[in-house]
Amino acid sequence: MKKKIVALAGDGIGPEIMNAGLHVLKIVAKKVDFSYEVENYAFGGAGIDAVGHPLPENTLKAAQASNAILLAAIGGPQYDKAEVRPEQGLLALRKSLGLFANIRPISVHPAIAHLSPLKEEVVAGVDFVVVRELTGGIYFGEPRELTPEKAIDTNVYTAQEIRRIIRKAFEIAQTRKKKVTSVDKQNVLATSKLWRQVAEEVSLEFPEVTLEHQLVDSCAMVMITHPQKFDVIVTENLFGDILSDEASVLPGSLGVMPSASHAESGPSLYEPIHGSAPDIAGKNIANPMSMILSVALMLRQSFGEEKAAAIIEQACDKVMSRGILTKDLGGTSSTTDFTEAVIKEIEKVEG
Ligand code: NAD
Ligand code: IPM
Ligand code: MN
Repeated sequence: MKKKIVALAGDGIGPEIMNAGLHVLKIVAKKVDFSYEVENYAFGGAGIDAVGHPLPENTLKAAQASNAILLAAIGGPQYDKAEVRPEQGLLALRKSLGLFANIRPISVHPAIAHLSPLKEEVVAGVDFVVVRELTGGIYFGEPRELTPEKAIDTNVYTAQEIRRIIRKAFEIAQTRKKKVTSVDKQNVLATSKLWRQVAEEVSLEFPEVTLEHQLVDSCAMVMITHPQKFDVIVTENLFGDILSDEASVLPGSLGVMPSASHAESGPSLYEPIHGSAPDIAGKNIANPMSMILSVALMLRQSFGEEKAAAIIEQACDKVMSRGILTKDLGGTSSTTDFTEAVIKEIEKVEG
């Protein structure tokens, strides 16, 4: 049966990198006989332009009825004053689909370790995963209020919300180096005190996995000084947002960072961790790797197409080792040059 994929190109560089991702998907699908169909829907600023709302009803319905969702990026300065901002559409989509587990893998391939702004020996071999809680915390807590004299955001976590994301982190660690770093601010926040307590409880279910706790401020520092020490980092929504953008400094660019978001049931969503990059939109210079690698994650995690995922990942590594790089990594290749080079590598692989 054909798998139904919903594509949300969104705004800024979104359409450019979505084109790259879908092109790569088409080529690799032929190689491995993966049968699928893609439907494109308006989302984010594009949704506002089309129907006045960042998450149009038909977009949400299609996403709910799909087997997986590919999202490129949303947002932009032209929507800063919109009644409902593109970002609110993204949060509503995540919430409606129950996408509580956002998996953000970070690795530095030896071929590109020298491109990092950090010392090569600090980043070589870095390979960890940030497991970010995505449907709770200060992003969604009530009350929220904004007046000229006072503003309120509320951080709320239930033990159940913490338990399921910590469990997810332990399950991932079991398949890797068996270490979980739970990141919190338990010296100050009540939500973090509960977080740490639940992490301890869940760790008893996974005796073969080591649990360590780290405060978020010092974690931000260790991520730059000793990033090789991490295996799986699990943390709340806001900390995960910030730490994962920080982690992009290790490989050298936000443009290489994919992510997967999972619910307890129903379709998963795959998207780069970066935004719509309005500063470089429309110039054919964005790094499409974050989107291409998100396609690889989709093939592996939603469809069990391990071979297709590995073909894509290896093709990206090979292209980068040959020095074909976009501007964010110091190269001169365009978005389409890089994508074509990846496709050529995929075409060389025996079917
Ligand atoms: P951003 O991630 O869009 O860009 C930060 C910097 O990284 C910019 O200099 C940009 O050019 C660069 N960059 C990002 N992706 C790149 C790529 N693929 N190739 C090369 N360079 C890349 O963050 P921002 O500028 O703070 O936000 C812009 C808009 O994106 C805002 O409206 C924000 O809310 C939105 N946003 C959306 C998402 C999403 O769609 N999931 C994520 C983050 C931010
Ligand atoms: C991300 C983004 C979003 C977030 C914004 C655009 C709502 O920064 O996906 O990391 O904060 O989750
Ligand atoms: Mn972010």
